[in-house]
Amino acid sequence: MQNLRTPKLTVVGAGPGDVELITLKAIKALENADVVLYDALVNEELLQYAAQAEIVFVGKRLGCHAYTQDQINELIVSMANRYGHVVRLKGGDPFIFGRGSEEIEYSEKFGLETAVVPGISSALGVPASVGISLTQRKVAESFWVITGTTSSHELSKDVHLASKSAATVVILMGMHKLNEIVDIYKANRTDDLPIAIIQNGTKNSEQKVVGNISSITKLVAEKNISSPAIIVIGEVVKNTSKLTSYFQEHFEDEFIFQNLNL
Ligand SMILES: C[S@@+](CC[C@H](N)C(=O)[O-])C[C@H]1O[C@@H](n2cnc3c(N)ncnc32)[C@H](O)[C@@H]1O
Repeated sequence: MQNLRTPKLTVVGAGPGDVELITLKAIKALENADVVLYDALVNEELLQYAAQAEIVFVGKRLGCHAYTQDQINELIVSMANRYGHVVRLKGGDPFIFGRGSEEIEYSEKFGLETAVVPGISSALGVPASVGISLTQRKVAESFWVITGTTSSHELSKDVHLASKSAATVVILMGMHKLNEIVDIYKANRTDDLPIAIIQNGTKNSEQKVVGNISSITKLVAEKNISSPAIIVIGEVVKNTSKLTSYFQEHFEDEFIFQNLNL
């Protein structure tokens, strides 16, 4: 049967996990989709909004990619030409370590109309949801969002630069590099700099640990925290309302020590 709809790609951010943290515009795009291609970090409950659409999982599970990036690019174009409107649903925001721009670039080469619906990135939404304010007057004037795993599978060199500043640092895809990150901070800053790690933020399965540079690897092992998780490093971590009591309970000595040094 000939497709009567204009071939179109809309790259949509699904937000960090909680189904209520998606935008109205994203829901409208899903309702209007003929095909939805979605990733592993997307909350599958959101697929209810695309009841009429063909749904394809293209993400990574148990370490294996269902599709390579090249295959996803080709699938977008062939599905759009065959069915019409393809929604590419991605965790968080599609342009924050999401390869959304690559998919748009590829699709435009093949004449597809394209659009982007921004999402709440885990880099911003997850810290906020646990009460961490990434900037705070007189504490942190800026924040960095850095990848723990570059395309060559290495920790971004930006971590070295960021660790020398007073900025809050948010690291995505960094759990496999936690020891390396800790070593960089030990070399460039202090052992007692606060750090929080949140796994599956905003989902029912959320887990978090809060400690400092010298204690965090032990705490992560004790609580069995793993990916997907974000790492937040900086003084703002201990100034947060929801975490202060936790921090005091677990790190009373460091608190007293720091206060004496003020
Ligand atoms: C490929 S990146 C995609 C980021 C996504 N585009 C965003 O804006 O959130 C995947 C990484 O995002 C982080 N991440 C995504 N969702 C998360 C969540 N709900 N809780 C904690 N970390 C999350 C993890 O560091 C994970 O390894």
